[in-house]
Amino acid sequence: MRGHGAERARILLVDDDERNLLAVKTVLDDVADVVVANSGEEALRHLLKGEFAVILLDVYMPGMDGYETAHMIRSREQTKRIPIVFLSAVNKESEHLLRGYAMGAVDYVFKPVDPLVLKSKVAVFVDLFLMRREIQRNAAHEQKLLDATIRANAEKLRVEQELRLAEQRQAAILQSLPIVLYLEDRDANPRIPRFVAGNFKALTGFDFDAVGANPHLWEERLHPEDKDRALAAIASRRGAQSGALEYRWQCADGSWKFFLDQAVLLRDDMGNMAEFAGTILDITERKALEAQLTHSLKMDAIGKLTGGIAHDFNNLLAAVLGGIGMIERRIKMSDDQRRIVDMTRHAAEQGTELVSRLLSFARRQTLEPAHLPIHHLGESVGDLLSHTLGGLVRLDWQLAPDLWPAYADASQLELALMNLIINARDAMPNGGTITVTGENRTLTGSGPVGLQPGDYVLITVSDQGAGIPSHLIDQVLEPFFTTKELGKGTGLGLSMVYGFAQQSGGTLRIDSEVDIGTRVEIWLPRGAPESEVSRRKKEKLQDAVAPRGMLKILLVDDHPGARITTAALLQDMGHEVMEAADGPRMLDMLRAAPQQFDLIISDYAMPLISGAEGIRQAREICPEIPAILITGYAEAASVAGRPADVHILLKPFGAEQFAAAIANAMGRRSIAIAAE
Ligand SMILES: Nc1ncnc2c1ncn2[C@@H]1O[C@H](COP(=O)(O)OP(=O)(O)OP(=O)(O)O)[C@@H](O)[C@H]1O
Ligand SMILES: [Mg+2]
Repeated sequence: MRGHGAERARILLVDDDERNLLAVKTVLDDVADVVVANSGEEALRHLLKGEFAVILLDVYMPGMDGYETAHMIRSREQTKRIPIVFLSAVNKESEHLLRGYAMGAVDYVFKPVDPLVLKSKVAVFVDLFLMRREIQRNAAHEQKLLDATIRANAEKLRVEQELRLAEQRQAAILQSLPIVLYLEDRDANPRIPRFVAGNFKALTGFDFDAVGANPHLWEERLHPEDKDRALAAIASRRGAQSGALEYRWQCADGSWKFFLDQAVLLRDDMGNMAEFAGTILDITERKALEAQLTHSLKMDAIGKLTGGIAHDFNNLLAAVLGGIGMIERRIKMSDDQRRIVDMTRHAAEQGTELVSRLLSFARRQTLEPAHLPIHHLGESVGDLLSHTLGGLVRLDWQLAPDLWPAYADASQLELALMNLIINARDAMPNGGTITVTGENRTLTGSGPVGLQPGDYVLITVSDQGAGIPSHLIDQVLEPFFTTKELGKGTGLGLSMVYGFAQQSGGTLRIDSEVDIGTRVEIWLPRGAPESEVSRRKKEKLQDAVAPRGMLKILLVDDHPGARITTAALLQDMGHEVMEAADGPRMLDMLRAAPQQFDLIISDYAMPLISGAEGIRQAREICPEIPAILITGYAEAASVAGRPADVHILLKPFGAEQFAAAIANAMGRRSIAIAAE
């Protein structure tokens, strides 16, 4: 046992006598490494530093004797188990021996030492020590192995748990996504997946078993308009590495969904291209948003186009009506001639009416929004329509008692409601009830498309008429779209209402089902309460000041025809007019005689400098000189740059409107009123 590799045990030999030390050391050198100490103290120091198989302790030593040393050794935790053999010269009496054993000795060796006895006794302890070490080492090794096994098991468990979690997570994600993953044989015909993962049931409404039961299910449920294209795409995919197609598909509940179906070809174990791995993604919502966007872009584009045309026509009609007015005032006509002129004016006025509807669709109407109590509106519209509706149709107003006022242009809203009600009447040739409701709505998140959060008044007009087929629903808002026979409808009604609602900061929505009926919603922003409104009305009344007599007017217009008609009109009204062909010339005239003019009347859209800018510069010469801007360009934004108290007169206008505008401008002299 002593030959455990290079390892040797150590023995601590304690004796104050050098000769003894040497003698014993010599005897024991081949049993173990002998560490010698001359005193108990030195022995204790050695014991602090290393392990010993046995301690040979001389009983009689000066200072700390053997017993004391043994006591100290026994009382220390690290050393208390080291066997102690006393070396004793004299006393063999049992009393002495007992004391030694009581102090922790395991044996006695008597001096003079018999080398053989000493050697064999010490050898027993050394063997014991080495054996214990060996056992400890083995135990430590086994513990290590055990620990490693436990660690490995724990790691395995953790990995397994993680895997399970990852699988669960993946399944949860797949379940919540509008997606199905599939594997499909390359040449499967009819196509049928071998394997699916994800939320097949939620996506299609079918159990996957249903697909097994009817291999033609996919094909049968394709939208008729998409079928040929989809089948062709699948056929050509078989010859390619990958493919992507979109189609409409009818789910189990009869609803249609838009699917994006993509796949790539995979190699099987043999390296053959044998199957497609693919996904089917529900893109119904995205498609709806796309359609919405396209529609609103289209409406915008049409709006810009019609707006531009309507604006030009408006200017032409203004000149026509102005001319007719002049003829009427200046020429004495026979009855026959007057009839012709009346007819001409009537036609031009109809044209103006048409143009104003177009402008309103293009959101270029000059709106005069006010805080409108809707209840009054019900009465006025009801009165206006009582004759038009006919006996078969009943109008039912259901306005919430606490309905908020709306902030909108009163006459335009009346017009809008009349349009909707007449549409409803036309949709019910056999009569029925048209219901107009008014409700308060507060939008917190995103409400009906495009509306900001806030308070709205929702007015709906519903009928139980013919309804609008779904493929036409996007078109009915377009100008000139009508299903009515020639001469019956212009197709401008809904366009106008739509433009009006949008320009008012609200919107229009249509819900319709064929043979069930139609419901049109107008959303308008909430107005201020009535008390507030009446206060503002009073202020307005105070502003009104009676017009004065003959005025000296500086008239600016780059269009000679328009300028001449306007000047003539002013002269007819008794005013004196100086004409300027553009802004700079107007400013020159003003500089030449700053005190000479009472009023500036200027066209808005002119080259060089705009009417608004011209008036601003004029006021640097003549501060606060009253001014009127004439504009056919009814867009609020374009005249926004004007000084606040400059009155706006819209083309085309009649003599009365002109007179009122002049009175207004003169009356407001020196009262700067902010634009509403
Ligand atoms: N309440 C409704 N029920 C069924 N279809 C409607 C309804 N309102 C509008 N429509 C459809 O929308 C089309 C366009 O309506 P819109 O009011 O813009 O023009 P219109 O009524 O044909 O002509 P206009 O209003 O200029 O006299 C109508 O021709 C009709 O086909
Ligand atoms: Mg209509």
